Amino acid sequence: MNILKINSSPMGDNSTTRRLTADFVAQIAQKNSSVDVVERDLAAQQVPLLSAETIGAFYTPPQSLAADQQALIALSNEMVDELETAQVIVIGAPMHNFSINGQLKTYIDQIARVGRTFQYTENGPQGLLTGKQVFVLVASGGDYTSGPYSKMDHLTGYLKTVLGFVGLSQVTFVQCPNMAGSEEAKASSVASATAQIAELTAKLSE
Ligand SMILES: Cc1cc2nc3c(=O)[nH]c(=O)nc-3n(C[C@H](O)[C@H](O)[C@H](O)COP(=O)(O)O)c2cc1C
Repeated sequence: MNILKINSSPMGDNSTTRRLTADFVAQIAQKNSSVDVVERDLAAQQVPLLSAETIGAFYTPPQSLAADQQALIALSNEMVDELETAQVIVIGAPMHNFSINGQLKTYIDQIARVGRTFQYTENGPQGLLTGKQVFVLVASGGDYTSGPYSKMDHLTGYLKTVLGFVGLSQVTFVQCPNMAGSEEAKASSVASATAQIAELTAKLSE
C-alpha cells in the first residue's frame, strides 16, 4: 500500500495534527505487511507562492518548457508525482483563521495543475487524480462540528471542493476540535479522533 502523508503544522512536537497523522500511518503499518510511506512536510520545506513565471510555466506545453521554466516547476512536478503514486493520502490540516493554513494552501496552489491534475473537457473540468482514498485529520481550537459556529468552518468545505476538483472525491474528515479547551476537553477530543482513526485504518486494511 502506497501512502502519502502530508503534514502542514508549524508546531513540531506540539502539533495535534502531526500526532494524528503519525498515529494513522502507524496503525496502517501495524495492520499491513507491506506499506510504503512517503512524507511531504510543508513546514520543514516551505512551498513557494505562485509567481507569474511559475503560472506561465504551468500553462506551457511540456515539450516547449525552457530550462528555467523546468526548474520553476520541478517541485510541483515532484509533489504531483507523489500524489499520483499514492493509493492513500493522509493530510494533517490545522485550522488557522477559520480555514487551512498557508502551508497547505500554497501546496494546493502548486498541485492544482491543468493537464496534470485536472483538465477541461466539453462537460467542464475533470479531475485526474482518481481512485485514491483521502483522510483529512483536522485540529481546531474551537468546535465547529455542529451548532451556530459550524458556519465559521471554511476549512472542511473548501478542502472537499478543491480535492474533488483534482479528482480526489473519496475524502473522509476526522475532526479533533476543542484544542483551546480544558485539559479534559482536549484529551477527550484526541481520544475520539484516535478511535475514529483506529476504525478507519481497520476498514482500509480489510
Ligand atoms: C495562527 C493560528 C490561527 C488559528 N486559528 C484558529 C481558528 O480560526 N479557529 C480555531 O478554532 N482554532 C484556531 N487556531 C487553533 C488551532 O487550530 C489549534 O491549535 C490546532 O491544534 C492546530 O493544529 P496543530 O496543533 O496541528 O498545529 C489557530 C492557531 C494558530 C496558531
